[in-house]
Amino acid sequence: MVGKEEPLPASDPSRVPGPTARVLKPLRFCGALGITGPRLAAPPNGRSGSVDPLEDPQMAPLAPKPRPGVLDIEAYVPGESHVPGGITPIKLSSNETPLGPSPKARAAFAAAGAGLERYPDGQATALRQAIARRFGLNPDRIVCGAGSDELISLIAHAYLGPGDEGLFTEHGFLLYRIVVLAAGAVPVVAPETGYRADVDAILARVTARTRIVFLANPNNPTGTYLSIEEVRRLRAGLPADVLLLLDAAYAEYVRRNDYEAGLELVATTPNTVMTRTFSKIFGLAGLRIGWAYCPEAIADALNRIRGPFNLSTPSIAAGAAAMDDWAHIEASVRHNDQWLPWLTAEIEKLGLQTTPSVANFILVHFPAAPGRDAEACDHFLKGRGIILRRVAGYGLPGALRLTVGTDAENRAVVDALAAFVGASA
Ligand SMILES: Cc1ncc(COP(=O)(O)O)c(C=O)c1O
Repeated sequence: MVGKEEPLPASDPSRVPGPTARVLKPLRFCGALGITGPRLAAPPNGRSGSVDPLEDPQMAPLAPKPRPGVLDIEAYVPGESHVPGGITPIKLSSNETPLGPSPKARAAFAAAGAGLERYPDGQATALRQAIARRFGLNPDRIVCGAGSDELISLIAHAYLGPGDEGLFTEHGFLLYRIVVLAAGAVPVVAPETGYRADVDAILARVTARTRIVFLANPNNPTGTYLSIEEVRRLRAGLPADVLLLLDAAYAEYVRRNDYEAGLELVATTPNTVMTRTFSKIFGLAGLRIGWAYCPEAIADALNRIRGPFNLSTPSIAAGAAAMDDWAHIEASVRHNDQWLPWLTAEIEKLGLQTTPSVANFILVHFPAAPGRDAEACDHFLKGRGIILRRVAGYGLPGALRLTVGTDAENRAVVDALAAFVGASA
């Protein structure tokens, strides 16, 4: 029970409008600045006016509290970028493309610098039209975001709430757990088989509370994928009110006849969304551009809750130009086609196991022996200026993820792995 409050004049700036007026804390440095602020009312608990609510445990319940679930989140840890010694590292930790963006995208980015005082086009029209042209889609059903991260998060916020369940797989992309918890919902994990999503295991974990199934296809960090037949079977087995989110961040790299990123299912079902990114093969990770292809009703929901200007003018321009330069994408695919199998074979020759990947990265497994394990290899490589991705947070403490790099980077990482295996044998 709080003490009776003396009403302050309505004009008093220390009052915050609202059903229960609160007393604001004085600026500690007011005196030093010669500012004489409004007199504070006695705190509602009747104690001396000099109490600092931030330091007084009895006042702690008044501190803002995040919604349930938020503090259960382990913040996403991006791939590292620095090694000791100030040398420029070989960074193979974030699945970025070694070929960089299309020169046309760079030029569009630079040109966009001329009008930065203006707000961007809140509909990202040029970008949605470029995507629609490339894939033969209805632009009204494309929603763009600041990276596919933002879209995945928006989808979770629109379709999950307290008590709901968001389902994903054992080694699925880490963001899914984060967005489920951030929405106040319950994360549910389906086991994988051989580092691969297992449709039956996912379906077995669906309950009346399941609202979204998140599937990265191909998955990061395993690099494995589900065929279109398997994805269709998953969709068919899910209740109609469960949204299937197909996260196809690495779709452009996949060279399998039985793979389809999700366009077909989005076109033919009212409850499937596909997300894509410009951060990987398009080489625009620094600009933060993603897109979702959605049923109309879902596009409508996302457009209501997204920031009105969630993409910057340079992002819209560079993304559109990158989408129109498919020759650059094809060159990146050829590069990956050459080096993915080469790296896999060379690493296997060293006696290390890899998980067969269809993306632009490889999961490399290490023995559990001290000095020969993933952690030891990570330190060894960093000592040589090479950064791979630790994936313990994905439930894979015995593995490192390696992104396909430039010709020289790929040779350097194989040489360094050979030196590690030789030194630790
Ligand atoms: C499977 C997957 N989905 C989504 C993303 C997010 O990409 P962005 O937010 O850069 O578009 C990533 C990035 O690593 C990813 O691996």
